[in-house]
Amino acid sequence: APVKVTKICCIGAGYVGGPTCAVIAVKCPQIRVTIVDLNAERIAAWNSPDYRLPIYEPGLVDVVREARGRNLFFSTDVDKGIEEADLIFVSVNTPTKKSGVGAGSAADLNYVELATRRIANVANSSKIVVEKSTVPCRTAESMRTILEANSKPNCRFDILSNPEFLAEGTAINDLFNPDRVLIGSLQTPEGKAACDALASVYANWVPTERILTVGLWSSELSKLAANAMLAQRISSINALSAICEATGANIDEVAHAIGYDSRVGPKFLKASVGFGGSCFQKDILNLVYLSESLHLPEVAAYWRQVVEMNEYQKRRFSKRVVDTLFNTITGKRIAVLGFAFKADTGDTRESAAITLIKDFQSERALINIYDPKVEHSQIWADLQEASPLVPLDSIKKQVTICSSALEACKDAEAVVIATEWKEFQEIDWETVYKKMNKPAFVFDGRLLLDADKLRRIGFKVTTIGRAAPLVQGSVPN
Ligand code: UDX
Ligand code: UDX
Ligand code: ADP
Repeated sequence: APVKVTKICCIGAGYVGGPTCAVIAVKCPQIRVTIVDLNAERIAAWNSPDYRLPIYEPGLVDVVREARGRNLFFSTDVDKGIEEADLIFVSVNTPTKKSGVGAGSAADLNYVELATRRIANVANSSKIVVEKSTVPCRTAESMRTILEANSKPNCRFDILSNPEFLAEGTAINDLFNPDRVLIGSLQTPEGKAACDALASVYANWVPTERILTVGLWSSELSKLAANAMLAQRISSINALSAICEATGANIDEVAHAIGYDSRVGPKFLKASVGFGGSCFQKDILNLVYLSESLHLPEVAAYWRQVVEMNEYQKRRFSKRVVDTLFNTITGKRIAVLGFAFKADTGDTRESAAITLIKDFQSERALINIYDPKVEHSQIWADLQEASPLVPLDSIKKQVTICSSALEACKDAEAVVIATEWKEFQEIDWETVYKKMNKPAFVFDGRLLLDADKLRRIGFKVTTIGRAAPLVQGSVPN
């Protein structure tokens, strides 16, 4: 295998492959980076002259502006990309299987397999193949089997696992200053040489003590485990938020007190309406499936509970909205602010907002949605997918997409904060209050708003992780 990497190809121009390889191009001007994808529309967007990129990520445009056309290229010619490269990232999607064995929890590795077979068919020289998509343990082994069974003579493939830990919304910063880079390889001389080759790419900007090299399977498991542990923190704090709501304890105070213990740490303890995103649920379910396949049912049940708690949290929140609005929201207008699964992204995968809105739909409420970044077409697609049996026309009779928070709140009975967009803090709540029906309710599912200030304006405020005020209008502790 080549020891020095000069040409990189990334298969998959999505949320992971796009930003990751764009940053590699910026940090390694001596390396030619080509990102390929079968989706021509996506590639066209990456190549658009006015930088209307297919994903929204703070700082991404600047990175692409700097490197595109210099040593960063986007193309639909997958085969050419493979042929030219000495190192190939496989960064394709790995959704949860919808049918067949393991439906609902196992990863659909079809895209990984197709990309791997493509590499095997097309390659005429040795390659380092890097698994970048989050995949269950031992996928690298399957990739190796496919590549070895289909390779040509004098064509050697070394497989590495190099999971990506970036979070959406902070991807560029995470890539510039990663907590760590993890590279897994076979512990053979060839495997270690391939590992060194990839490590030296990252060493262009990542301090070497942050580049961790481990065995292939440790690397694959670490990615699933890291996401499972992070999600577990949120489900733990959300479980405590239910106790707070029932007792008068305040979840922010509890989280603060817990986080002060240096063994626990303060980050990632924000109670919410439930976690979303493409990774947490999917990776935990992969871990559950893996545990079951290994005949470890107790381990599977332990991790499954993290996802169940998240479902419970979403259901609990929509029920609280209905209960507070005098047990019925039929025909009432509810403004849902935020549709993305977290702030600073236009991504909606597994967003809690989708579940809440579906609950409101089945209670026959009227729903106004506003999100600063999510495309309207995406919202319709998500709502249609959530209710496959309801015609889109009927959905559109119940749901309106608005172009500002103020517009969404007009004539509404209640405002629901589903995503922690900073701009919702800066809303002119006095004006919102005037435009809403009375009593005007606010449900803060993100601990985002100053509840006391809103109460002084006249709102009835319900906050996640806090008891409802005993006397309407009084300020809870
Ligand atoms: C996550 C991991 O953080 C990242 O390391 C991994 O590579 C991919 O999965 P991401 O899903 O992009 O990243 O976002 P993250 O910031 O982790 O948030 C996930 C969900 O948890 C969001 O819905 C967020 O709102 C929610 N969350 C996060 C909370 O509800 N409370 C918190 O304290 C933190
Ligand atoms: C614990 C809390 O740490 C402390 O803050 C609280 O006030 C009382 O309970 P303690 O039970 O004395 O303190 O010891 P601790 O160090 O927390 O260990 C508890 C158990 O967990 C021990 O059996 C320890 O061996 C085990 N442990 C701890 C692990 O198995 N792995 C670890 O990483 C840490
Ligand atoms: P992630 O969040 O993991 O980056 P995305 O769905 O955003 O996932 O991106 C994965 C991308 O991979 C998609 O744009 C998809 O078109 C692309 N892709 C899937 N299979 C292949 C393949 N065999 N060859 C090239 N691109 C592929």
